[in-house]
Amino acid sequence: MAYTISKLTDYSAAALERASAELFSALGDEASTVKNEGDWKIFRDRWMARKNGVLTQINDLWLKAAPKEAKREVGLRVNLIKEQVEQQVADAKVRYQIPELPISSATSEISETNLRRDAIGKAGIIDITLPGIRRPIGAEHPVVKTTNEMVRVFQRLGYSVAEGPVVETDYYNFESLNFPPNHPARDTQDTLFIAGQQAKPQRERLLLRTHTSPVQIRTMEKMRPPLRIVIPGTVHRNDPLDASHSPMFHQIEGLAVDTNITFGDLKGTLDHAMKEFFGSSVKTSFRPSFFPFTEPSAEMFVSCFICGGSGRRGTDPCRPCKQTGWIEILGCGMVDPNVFEFVKDNGYDPRKVSGFAFGMGADRIALLKYGVDDIQLFFQGDVRFLRQWA
Ligand code: PHE
Repeated sequence: MAYTISKLTDYSAAALERASAELFSALGDEASTVKNEGDWKIFRDRWMARKNGVLTQINDLWLKAAPKEAKREVGLRVNLIKEQVEQQVADAKVRYQIPELPISSATSEISETNLRRDAIGKAGIIDITLPGIRRPIGAEHPVVKTTNEMVRVFQRLGYSVAEGPVVETDYYNFESLNFPPNHPARDTQDTLFIAGQQAKPQRERLLLRTHTSPVQIRTMEKMRPPLRIVIPGTVHRNDPLDASHSPMFHQIEGLAVDTNITFGDLKGTLDHAMKEFFGSSVKTSFRPSFFPFTEPSAEMFVSCFICGGSGRRGTDPCRPCKQTGWIEILGCGMVDPNVFEFVKDNGYDPRKVSGFAFGMGADRIALLKYGVDDIQLFFQGDVRFLRQWA
């Protein structure tokens, strides 16, 4: 006999439970008889028709008739029933289209979605009513973003990108860059050495590169002059970590070699690059320095882009430039002829070519650019921090 909705006389939880169970069982039975579109339409209308469908009747006979104090409880039930009816009506349609789909019951442990997905897999169709699979879109890490922006500045000047290994040999990290074995200049590099290398000749021993400069030699071995390259990469030094040091950090290196390259080319190129990167109002300043692989060598400063070079922010002292109005950005210099000697056979005769090189810390520039006060934040992977660049 077909199910009919009866009035409720008892609004207790147990009575409601019994009445809903009866309804769900009728719903399941009727859903199982749907075999084609015609059946389905009848089924749908019987349960969902606005005029006199089961849902409408429940609304009138159960909810509207309920005494005030039972309304809340009955309302919750009716909502649940409504969801189930809608689900069963939708499923019944999929089922006569894809016959393998088992009939679900309101109490089924097996998720309807899984069943449906299985059925769809078998039938080879796509159910556009399923919610989509959300793929969260990542964002560039602030250090990567800074690196890419700086690299692009040089690419626009005609530089190509070169890269090299992070685990490097003593030869490329030191010897060919004019740090002779046992030279005290090596001490400045706080090198992390790979263990167990003693049996090898010194130049073959492995270490974590302390700078991106080894890629200068590696590239000159492969490519003849003229050469213009920009080298982004990860480097390591045995520095204890604090707000401005990390044992792993990032550099952006540059090398230009051609006939008649002068210190004027170095200054002009870097001044232009800094104006591109930080804004056209920054000034650059070069101060003498020392690196084994450049001669002469310099440190380049840019006028503080935070305080505009005044050393003050309103009445407060400017912290990033330590009130000097200048921020040290990179090391640079003219390629030392001794370095060219190591690649002389590939066209780098120091009597014929000259060049300049520079290297800067990407993390440091990112800290300054984004006003971050602790380098550790870049490497802790906290999405609340990183999301700010999304
Ligand atoms: N390699 C140097 C460093 O890490 C930077 C540098 C690169 C200096 C190229 C001069 C030329 O300190």
